[in-house]
Amino acid sequence: MTILLKTVDLRKQFGETRACDGVNFVVHKGEFLSLVGSNGAGKTSLVNLISAHLTPDSGQILFEDKDITFMTVSERIKAGIARSFQIVNLFDGLTVFDNIALSIFSRDGKAGKIISLAEHDDDVRRETLEVLGQFGLSDKTAVLAGGLAQGERKLLDVAVAYALRPKLLFLDEPTSGVSTHEKAQIMDTVSSVVRAGTVTAVVIEHDMDVVFRYSDRIVMMHEGAFLADGTPDQIKMNKDVANILLGVPLSV
Ligand SMILES: Nc1ncnc2c1ncn2[C@@H]1O[C@H](COP(=O)(O)OP(=O)(O)OP(=O)(O)O)[C@@H](O)[C@H]1O
Ligand SMILES: [Mg+2]
Repeated sequence: MTILLKTVDLRKQFGETRACDGVNFVVHKGEFLSLVGSNGAGKTSLVNLISAHLTPDSGQILFEDKDITFMTVSERIKAGIARSFQIVNLFDGLTVFDNIALSIFSRDGKAGKIISLAEHDDDVRRETLEVLGQFGLSDKTAVLAGGLAQGERKLLDVAVAYALRPKLLFLDEPTSGVSTHEKAQIMDTVSSVVRAGTVTAVVIEHDMDVVFRYSDRIVMMHEGAFLADGTPDQIKMNKDVANILLGVPLSV
């Protein structure tokens, strides 16, 4: 298995809170990995450190064997790392089509040409329609993002990050606040693009039914550190994980 991303003893503290307490995280190329753990476990902080939305106190981040610890957000996107946010990050006043087109424009460094969105850059238009098709949003292209149902908003938000064509895609709670049916639709879509071999995904998710169903591997965080790391079957058998999920305090 090829290692795509690796963190070495990554640390981030907020006052007394150790959000990341010496994390050694490995992501393999092509896997669908879930990051789980109770509220405040440090999941979002870890993703923020990897995407450069937070600066580590110490430690290293390696992507494709290159040290990216001091790269900026845009340098990391260029290197192939994209992420969605826990709260959707869409332009509500733009159409579904233009939210994706804008992401592609920014990726290609064509931001100065944004005025031509209206005139439709042919390459961007073709690719936008392709991404919208993959995410089941083809019949919504002209709808304003602000007018979408919650499940569709989450789906579009994931599609915006995917349109950056990352090698490694982090999704922070892509299914929160949506119905069971919409959860399946979002996860089926993410899983199909991972299975197509185009992207590696790390998904932060609280719904353990979803986690067990879709993941190749599951990592559980607790108080800034990794508590368990294994296949769905291994994680189902792990006593510490069961205790956390049941809200039982750990004796460690
Ligand atoms: N910018 C910040 N300033 C101060 N404390 C922070 C900041 N960001 C996170 N924290 C704290 O760090 C800890 C980890 O937070 P984080 O958001 O990473 O958890 P999480 O696992 O994503 O939780 P949730 O499931 O609720 O999203 C929490 O105690 C949180 O309050
Ligand atoms: Mg979080």
